[in-house]
Amino acid sequence: MRNLIGIAVSLISLVFTQIHTQNVICDFETIENDYICTIVSANITSDTIPLEFLSQHLDGRNDSHVTVVKTNSSFSGRISIYHPQFTQQFPNLQVIDLQRLRIMDLSNSSFQQCDELRKINLHFNELNYLQDNLFDNCIKLVKLILSNNHIQVLTDATFYGLHDLEVMNINLNLIHTISDNVFRNNRKLKELHLGNPWNLYQYNPRMLEYLQELEVIELSDWHINFNDTEIILNGLTNLREIILRKNYYDYLNFEFFSQFENLMVLDLNDNSLRDIVDYSMQNLTNLKELYIQGSFIQTLTENTFTGLDNLEILWLGYNNIDTILENTFSNLKNLKELSLIFNKIDVLQDGIFQNQQNLQRLHLGVNMITDLRPGVFEPLTSLESINIYNNNIKSLNTNAFGKHEHLTEFTASWNEIYEIERNFFENFPNLQLLVISKNICIDKIIENFQNVNVSKILAKCFENWVNQRTTTSSTEFPTTTDGGDNGSILTYSILLIISLIFAVFIVQ
Ligand SMILES: *[C@@H]1O[C@H](CO)[C@@H](O)[C@H](O)[C@H]1NC(C)=O
Ligand SMILES: *[C@@H]1O[C@H](CO)[C@@H](O)[C@H](O)[C@H]1NC(C)=O
Ligand SMILES: *[C@@H]1O[C@H](CO)[C@@H](O)[C@H](O)[C@H]1NC(C)=O
Ligand SMILES: *[C@@H]1O[C@H](CO)[C@@H](O)[C@H](O)[C@H]1NC(C)=O
Ligand SMILES: *[C@@H]1O[C@H](CO)[C@@H](O)[C@H](O)[C@H]1NC(C)=O
Ligand SMILES: *[C@@H]1O[C@H](CO)[C@@H](O)[C@H](O)[C@H]1NC(C)=O
Repeated sequence: MRNLIGIAVSLISLVFTQIHTQNVICDFETIENDYICTIVSANITSDTIPLEFLSQHLDGRNDSHVTVVKTNSSFSGRISIYHPQFTQQFPNLQVIDLQRLRIMDLSNSSFQQCDELRKINLHFNELNYLQDNLFDNCIKLVKLILSNNHIQVLTDATFYGLHDLEVMNINLNLIHTISDNVFRNNRKLKELHLGNPWNLYQYNPRMLEYLQELEVIELSDWHINFNDTEIILNGLTNLREIILRKNYYDYLNFEFFSQFENLMVLDLNDNSLRDIVDYSMQNLTNLKELYIQGSFIQTLTENTFTGLDNLEILWLGYNNIDTILENTFSNLKNLKELSLIFNKIDVLQDGIFQNQQNLQRLHLGVNMITDLRPGVFEPLTSLESINIYNNNIKSLNTNAFGKHEHLTEFTASWNEIYEIERNFFENFPNLQLLVISKNICIDKIIENFQNVNVSKILAKCFENWVNQRTTTSSTEFPTTTDGGDNGSILTYSILLIISLIFAVFIVQ
């Protein structure tokens, strides 16, 4: 009987301790100056029941050495509420990195002890509410990432104590209200992402005026017109990077950006611009990246890009561009990447790339180009990849190209190519990826193909040849092709299409 009671008591106490602590299993490791706890398993559903850390420290280490608490994609279990004990248990904790866990709550005690924290990353959780004064004790916090949550309101006290904060990301929340002085205490902010609120109906257009050190601002998907944008950004003269995607601007005054002398990145993807006024960007001499993908621009003239002498990346895809005059890009001598995909270009004018000796990546897919004029790509001596997929090109002729020593990727699928000259690939001695599936390519024979990585040749025209190479290791080339399709080509094409769609998706 006494035994039975003893067992019962120990069972009860076992249950008791199990209920009254929540277990956390860490994998400890040292990387450079950090001693890291990677939580591999935990069940944290209450922020009042204590946590019990079950793992052994590495030799010579104890709780006070831990500087980083994080999870990775191997995490198992559940963390539905942030627990204040992380910073209590590890008094020198500097980084909290708990992403993609469906954490729903932060209580007002979450960061009561927060003295040493430098970085909080709670990206992709389900937080819907930030208590006022929540971060008041996090006086050393430099970086706060709360993107992809369900936060709806930012009040004057939400970020109150964060005097040293430099980076804040609250993209992709459900924000509808931002109070007037929300950033009043965050005067050291350098980078602020406020993109993709949900249904923003209350904000103060002068709410950023305290942020004189701001270098990066994102106001994507605000659905505001350009005049309102001007009021928000006016005077923030240190801006280096301005991201204004998906605002449906149909009008935009590029001259406004002249006041930002250090402007290097201007992202205007997914708006509704109809044209770019000649010379309007002429003062943006430090601009390195310009994204104007997804508008309704139709015409580019030789003065559209005047002044952008340091531009390196230019995206003009998904517009209605049908006309590009010969000298349009001629002052862009430092261009490294040019995208004109999904437009209505039918002719590449002679000399259009004449000054593009630094261009490395050229994207011309999904246009209406029918033929490649002699010498059109010849100036592109630094070219590394070119895609001209989904046009109406009938022939790949050598004289459109020059010698492209650095070219490794060539994509010309979904055209009407029925012939490729014998020595076409001689000028691309380092070609690694060739995609020319979905063409007509009936009976021309490619002979000089030694330099191309055969395992990646996907063209219907070379099907037999590929098969021969892979199945019999023959070095002979076929003299005819039967034009039949086969499964692997289909699979590759589908994969290609999916990856293109995916790429486009990411790019947007
Ligand atoms: C969390 O709960 C799951 C399932 O209930 C269990 O398999 C796992 O061991 C628990 N982890 C910890 C650290 O208690
Ligand atoms: C942790 O180790 C340090 C020495 O590296 C020691 O000074 C400190 O007292 C230890 N802390 C605990 C809680 O054991
Ligand atoms: C996650 O961290 C654990 C513990 O450090 C490690 O064993 C695992 O390989 C990591 N998983 C990934 C996907 O990085
Ligand atoms: C924390 O929140 C609880 C209720 O959520 C409240 O009763 C308590 O007063 C708050 N504590 C502080 C210090 O604000
Ligand atoms: C360029 O800057 C000059 C001098 O500040 C100014 O007069 C001119 O209007 C600006 N032009 C454009 C297109 O922004
Ligand atoms: C050719 O491509 C295959 C498959 O991608 C790759 O494994 C191989 O290293 C490549 N060979 C050369 C010489 O580049």
